[in-house]
Amino acid sequence: MNDLIAAAKAARLKAYAPYSKFLVGAALRDENGKIHGGCNIENAAYPQGWCAETSAIAAMIMAGGHSIAEMAVIGTGDLLCTPCGGCRQKIREFARGSVKIHMCGEDGTLKQTMTLDELLPASFGPENLA
Ligand code: THU
Repeated sequence: MNDLIAAAKAARLKAYAPYSKFLVGAALRDENGKIHGGCNIENAAYPQGWCAETSAIAAMIMAGGHSIAEMAVIGTGDLLCTPCGGCRQKIREFARGSVKIHMCGEDGTLKQTMTLDELLPASFGPENLA
């Protein structure tokens, strides 16, 4: 878990968030144990920005990964930075409900771990379309 948190911390420092100034880093471990990081990237046309979790998923897909085994998220400030609603659904596409998501402070201290099922109960996923 420490390697995952370190990757999220490093990714956070690459965030492009000149508008909100809210830097976020995310890192996920794929089915092969490989870690993929991502940061939030904002845009002058505000709604066009995207989240750190989404960037990490894009990095995983581009590297040939297929599923999320574990994830860490680090936001800014003292409040718990949980994945936003849209990201929960994006994570759901590639993760089982039992996958753990670690939410940490800026210094990498673990604040809380929740499963995807806890964050997104009764979710709709790929199986629904099978
Ligand atoms: N943000 C993330 O990247 N991940 C989260 O889990 C919550 C919010 C970003 C989006 C936006 O760039 C900034 O944080 C403020 O909402």
